[in-house]
Amino acid sequence: MDMMMLVQGAACCSNQWLAAVILSVCCLLPSCLPAGQGMDYPWPAVPVVDNLVVRQGETAMLRCILEDGASKGAWLNRSSIIFAGNDKWSVDPRVSISASSKKDYNLRIQKVEISDDGMYTCSVQTEHSPRTMQIILTVQVSPKIFEISPSMIVNEGTNVSLTCLASGKPEPSISWRHISPSGTAKPFGTGQYLDIYGITRDQAGDYECLAENAVPYSDVKKVNVVVNFAPTILEITPSGVSLGKTGLIRCETAAVPAPTFEWYKGERKLTNGQKGILIKNYSTRSILHVSNVTEEHFGNYTCVAVNKLGTSNASLPLNQIIEPSTTSPVTSSAPSTAQYGITGRAEILFSCWYLVLTLSSFTSIIYLKNIIIQ
Ligand SMILES: *[C@@H]1O[C@H](CO)[C@@H](O)[C@H](O)[C@H]1NC(C)=O
Ligand SMILES: *[C@@H]1O[C@H](CO)[C@@H](O)[C@H](O)[C@H]1NC(C)=O
Ligand SMILES: *[C@@H]1O[C@H](CO)[C@@H](O)[C@H](O)[C@H]1NC(C)=O
Ligand SMILES: *[C@@H]1O[C@H](CO)[C@@H](O)[C@H](O)[C@H]1NC(C)=O
Ligand SMILES: *[C@@H]1O[C@H](CO)[C@@H](O)[C@H](O)[C@H]1NC(C)=O
Ligand SMILES: *[C@@H]1O[C@H](CO)[C@@H](O)[C@H](O)[C@H]1NC(C)=O
Repeated sequence: MDMMMLVQGAACCSNQWLAAVILSVCCLLPSCLPAGQGMDYPWPAVPVVDNLVVRQGETAMLRCILEDGASKGAWLNRSSIIFAGNDKWSVDPRVSISASSKKDYNLRIQKVEISDDGMYTCSVQTEHSPRTMQIILTVQVSPKIFEISPSMIVNEGTNVSLTCLASGKPEPSISWRHISPSGTAKPFGTGQYLDIYGITRDQAGDYECLAENAVPYSDVKKVNVVVNFAPTILEITPSGVSLGKTGLIRCETAAVPAPTFEWYKGERKLTNGQKGILIKNYSTRSILHVSNVTEEHFGNYTCVAVNKLGTSNASLPLNQIIEPSTTSPVTSSAPSTAQYGITGRAEILFSCWYLVLTLSSFTSIIYLKNIIIQ
């Protein structure tokens, strides 16, 4: 195809310049004739090679300078002619010749694509010294994550494999971070595939994939991993209560998903509203309220936490607190402190009064004494 175009070109314009262009094109092909063969002018053996790095979507300016107004140039992309002089051979609307002076013969490529990557040749034909200039255009592409594992819910102990695939040029490197539900982030391996053998509850949270290469900007995506595990009862608070008061038993669990709770007194299941019983559940915690405690409320209580992975229970007795008096310590202690305060102040007042009294009696004695002396 390219060669046919060249043959046609050779047929229509039989001047020396185009022949040189064709030869330069020919020399870029593997089946190249030795340079200069059959030519009656010197051909430079080593072309000037330059590099140009451009980001995808930007405009590339490939520079080439003509000796003078009389010389002609041509731009070639691998084996095809893009421009011969000012004649555009390429059909690509993104390419044009940019010249701010007669000497300039720059090739401008707008909205550079990855396919534009490669070697470009500027061939300059002058009367005496034909030369070629080669530019290697490298198109860079910022990293883009195009595939990431969906968020998942797994059971503790499962082998988990996370995938993060990214495109970009140069090839992006992939690194992972684990962000725990509490927000602490730690590096967690590298590579497109992240394998977690026998995942633990502590490894639940977000997994953040970072794709980066030398080109701004890095791309980041997250996978959320929920790790299910059976309930364990962390704490069941001991509670003592006195008659007529409200008893509280708190049952604290660790479980994913959040468990459902059941409460028992001995063998009997407790329900809300039953004999002053009120059960309140908060995600992984359940609180049993016993209002206006009577003798029959004392005894052994059991908290049972259930989720789809298992069940756990813990028991605790609700004991009676025997108080020294009928008044509760809270109601009796507050006023008594105040009483002590008042007593204290009264004592000071009394001391003052006594002092005044003593002083006045002393003055009285002196006064009496004076009277007697007089
Ligand atoms: C260069 O050549 C490649 C393949 O031959 C083509 O895909 C690309 O569009 C060309 N670029 C320019 C700027 O002509
Ligand atoms: C998890 O991976 C380990 C190591 O490859 C393997 O021995 C084990 O059988 C796997 N467990 C499951 C549940 O697939
Ligand atoms: C919450 O407590 C009630 C008792 O009021 C109980 O019937 C219900 O199953 C509990 N719900 C959960 C999700 O544990
Ligand atoms: C508590 O229970 C006792 C005996 O059952 C009853 O006399 C009393 O009125 C109750 N008090 C409250 C505040 O419910
Ligand atoms: C309380 O009840 C549980 C379950 O019914 C039982 O295992 C435990 O021994 C009981 N504890 C006491 C002190 O009675
Ligand atoms: C509490 O757990 C024990 C085993 O740990 C089990 O035998 C018992 O039946 C459980 N009690 C309740 C009320 O679920």
